[in-house]
Amino acid sequence: MTRPARIALKVVVWSICLAPLARLAYRAWTDDLGANPISFITNTLGDWTLRILLASLAMTPLRIAFGLSWPITVRRLLGLFAFAYVCLHFSVWIVLDFFFDWPRMWADIVKRPYITMGMLALLSLIPLAATSTTSMIRRLGARNWTRLHRLAYVAAVCAVVHYLWLAKVGVKDPYWYAAALVVLLGVRGWEWARRVIRRRRDRAQAAPPRVRSQAENPLS
Ligand code: HEM
Repeated sequence: MTRPARIALKVVVWSICLAPLARLAYRAWTDDLGANPISFITNTLGDWTLRILLASLAMTPLRIAFGLSWPITVRRLLGLFAFAYVCLHFSVWIVLDFFFDWPRMWADIVKRPYITMGMLALLSLIPLAATSTTSMIRRLGARNWTRLHRLAYVAAVCAVVHYLWLAKVGVKDPYWYAAALVVLLGVRGWEWARRVIRRRRDRAQAAPPRVRSQAENPLS
């Protein structure tokens, strides 16, 4: 991919990821946040966290399934945007829902399973955001970094469960997100299985023919 094309792609991703925040700010400015503004802000930020997180996880499957390499260019950027959105989502909960009442917040995390799941998703994303710089990739080594970044899938599973558990009966959206995650995990699993099979076959072909010992030889 050429440098101008890479820059253009990043500009598109920045614009798409910042648009929901701009829209939210505009609605707040024009007093158009509905009957329950806190809930509206929390849900909008939660929705976009999940969408961007799943988009970041879709980049590698796009390469596997269609041979496209350009999506990898924006995978890290999308992951960082997902983290930024969840920080805002979490901040609304801390400031507007509980106003820094730490004991009540802790009680809420322990009492409500969907909040526990949201917290687990957030905690899984922290090491990923902390190691997202090029210098951290170098320090950890590509192999360890890749292994650590599989936590993104743990975060996505917890986030989808968070949504499934909080959604009211009859709301279908969380099931669509769950289905998307199953497809993404399926593509990764399929690729992993193919790699294991290929490695085993290569190893079997590379091994020298086994010479039978005298005891094993029925003709001896
Ligand atoms: C990666 C992490 C997370 C993701 C992807 C996420 C996503 C979501 C989504 C999609 C919704 C529902 C939006 C809707 O109904 O349209 C939501 C609602 C909510 N989330 Fe999260 N969330 C995350 C973490 C958290 C955390 C850490 C907390 C607080 C500790 C939290 C607290 C809430 C609350 C209070 C609601 C509103 C529930 C209601 O309407 O009653 N979330 N979140």
